[in-house]
Amino acid sequence: MQAWLCENPIGVEALSWKQLPTPDPQADEVRVAIKAASLNFPDLLIVQNKYQMKPALPFVPGSEYAGIVEAVGADVRQVKVGDAVAAFGGTGGFGTHAVVKAALVMPLPAGFAFDDAAAFVLTYATTHHALLDRAALKAGETVLVLGAAGGVGTAAIQIAKAVGARVIAAASSDEKCALCLQLGADAAINYGGANLPKLRDEIKRLTDGKGPDVVYDPVGGDLAEPVFRSIAWRGRYLVVGFAQGGIPALPWNLALLKGASIVGVFWGDFARREPKQFAESIRQLGRWHAEGKLRPHISQTFPLEKAVDALKLMAARQVKGKVVLTISA
Ligand SMILES: NC(=O)c1ccc[n+]([C@@H]2O[C@H](COP(=O)([O-])OP(=O)(O)OC[C@H]3O[C@@H](n4cnc5c(N)ncnc54)[C@H](OP(=O)(O)O)[C@@H]3O)[C@@H](O)[C@H]2O)c1
Repeated sequence: MQAWLCENPIGVEALSWKQLPTPDPQADEVRVAIKAASLNFPDLLIVQNKYQMKPALPFVPGSEYAGIVEAVGADVRQVKVGDAVAAFGGTGGFGTHAVVKAALVMPLPAGFAFDDAAAFVLTYATTHHALLDRAALKAGETVLVLGAAGGVGTAAIQIAKAVGARVIAAASSDEKCALCLQLGADAAINYGGANLPKLRDEIKRLTDGKGPDVVYDPVGGDLAEPVFRSIAWRGRYLVVGFAQGGIPALPWNLALLKGASIVGVFWGDFARREPKQFAESIRQLGRWHAEGKLRPHISQTFPLEKAVDALKLMAARQVKGKVVLTISA
């Protein structure tokens, strides 16, 4: 097999394209012949040793992928050789083959394309857990999505609309805002560059002074405090990620004054600790996908050999929706 190997976690430039022995699965594992893998922000962090999960070196990055089961361990019952599957192993996806625990693999419904499948579970399931489970978002409420043109951001627009909420998308350029509106957002705010000081006024204007009921924040940094100051009474502020790099610190009196909650979202641990709720969330996402309510916006595809170029694009804040790596062989 061939794969991108991280031997020294100092950044994407240190990844190397290697020929490796094709591994055999252990009793509870399967081997997947990968057809497509998608980029997620944690893939960037993990190769810089900045992610909460620190795999033993060397490792193949790539948290999420889809392909065909090629071999199964002796104890595996839920999938068989030849099944089309999506997998979210945390690592292993940026290669032609991966061995992964069978519990982290799910069979694909008929007609679910490999590109879509590789770009679906992590962003949509994180967002489903965030908006519905952690924030209890209801029809008619307003949700403000930051970084709304990114992977989890575009998923948040679609899931919030599927619930019947009103969506205000916020992103750093007019082009990104236009994509958000195309994906169903009701309004958009460009907070890029010189627009940042106007962000609070824009939120106020678009919510008739009330503020958003729910904020979905995968960006953090200098957006968090002004946005938290704008949240509605009994608002729920979802802490999803820190793509900007800075981890915000808030004066706690703001939470008191708004009767508001700061709500953490950690999808990986949710999936591990609450498998029944996780399975139900995946079933609902599958139904919404089948009904056409959810569709990953894949803006670009690269051959697997160009994974480093794709990761650099993500680091440069250039990605819209999802980027997918494909394997032609
Ligand atoms: N909590 C969880 O369980 C969970 C699960 C999955 C992902 N996440 C986190 O969610 C965040 C987004 O992940 P993603 O896969 O959606 O990433 P993504 O597609 O790259 O989107 C991230 C967005 O953040 C904004 N951003 C602001 N400053 C940035 C910078 N310096 N570099 C890159 N982007 C920047 C960009 O939007 P603008 O240019 O419009 O600002 C970008 O579209 C990450 O922090 C990730 O770790 C958390």
